[in-house]
Amino acid sequence: SSRDAVRIVEVGPRDGLQNEKKAIPLATKVELVERLARTGLQTIEAGSFVSPKWTPQMANSSQILEHILRNAPQSPVPITYQWLLPNVKGFDNFLKLWNAQSTPAQDAYPTPPPSPGPDGGPALNTSSQDPNAMPSATSGADAMGKERGAAGSTSAPVHEISIFTAATETFTQKNTNCSIAESLQRFEPVMSKAKEMGLKVRAYISVALGCPYEGPDVDPHKVAELAVDLLEMGANEISVADTTGMGTAPKTAELLKALNAAGIDKHDLALHFHDTYGMALVNSVVALEHGIRTFDAAVGGLGGCPYSPGATGNVATEDLVHLFHSLGMPTGVNMEKLSEIGEWISAELGKSNESSAGKATLAQ
Ligand code: HMG
Ligand code: MG
Repeated sequence: SSRDAVRIVEVGPRDGLQNEKKAIPLATKVELVERLARTGLQTIEAGSFVSPKWTPQMANSSQILEHILRNAPQSPVPITYQWLLPNVKGFDNFLKLWNAQSTPAQDAYPTPPPSPGPDGGPALNTSSQDPNAMPSATSGADAMGKERGAAGSTSAPVHEISIFTAATETFTQKNTNCSIAESLQRFEPVMSKAKEMGLKVRAYISVALGCPYEGPDVDPHKVAELAVDLLEMGANEISVADTTGMGTAPKTAELLKALNAAGIDKHDLALHFHDTYGMALVNSVVALEHGIRTFDAAVGGLGGCPYSPGATGNVATEDLVHLFHSLGMPTGVNMEKLSEIGEWISAELGKSNESSAGKATLAQ
């Protein structure tokens, strides 16, 4: 129904920053994560463990993870941090740090009942079998993301990993130097070890609605097949990505129908729109109508993939939050705080703020 809550996965610190040419100071990246954590967002992709030769801007992601492990950012709701990685090497680099933390704090929380999230959102993080599950402190959170107490509260964050492949062979080669089949082979050891350790795994499928190398007509059945493979391997969620922003309302509907016809549960899907052609909000409404309740976005509309020439930023988180609230669907995110972050980070990067709703909110 239109009252359903929507979960936003904030990918600004990762997708938003990875394509910036000038090295962004670690302190700015950490401040971005800390500020986002205070808005009521439940999920933040905070960095990636990829080759520094391929994506130099993400080379200090390990220091961001170290910082979060040492000093959990204050947040009104418990936060899940996602870490993007392409292979075992990246996973090992992640694990070295993640293992070094003392984990008993996570066991100190009673296992929450398998009910929906604080705002009735998808229960992705509340699986009762998961040792890394969301602490039950969730229940104290206000649906509109207001902080409990002036300083907010801090809960033990949950960490998850994100793996990524793509719907076309050319894009997969350009982005990860392997074929689609090889990318799946790389994921197998990552997946089995992650499961062993109780880490959830999200899997991205890039260029699902258009490829910079193979053109706008990507076969939706190919995307669905890949999604099924990834879920069968153990992925907890598939993020279907319109990397190039070539998606349109009819193409989005067609893709979602193909995913449904392949037997994929809509609760296992997230949609990841880039706004290159200004279609991201329209496509998001189509996805909502098909029952999708998890969406990726980047504050200020930051972003772009270094291996997708010409593609611009992710849909702005502020614009999605405004859209969902306008439809009576809670996100738990504080729009004013979020808008201030979009303005601040844009200025830090010397770019214009790409969020219409963010700018309008600040102008009020
Ligand atoms: P490769 O060069 O074929 O790797 O790159 P390799 O296995 O041959 O190893 C070469 C060297 O890289 C070795 O070091 C490895 O140790 C090292 P050397 O012996 O030469 O010193 N290496 C690594 N170092 C750190 N971390 C690692 C790692 N792996 C190998 N994980 C590889 C293959 C996949 C590593 C490379 O292509 C890569 O890192 N690609 C990532 C590119 C990227 O960051 N793209 C953007 C993210 S995806 C995206 O934005 C899309 C998304 O937002 C959704 C959407 O919108 O579409 C998710
Ligand atoms: Mg992206």
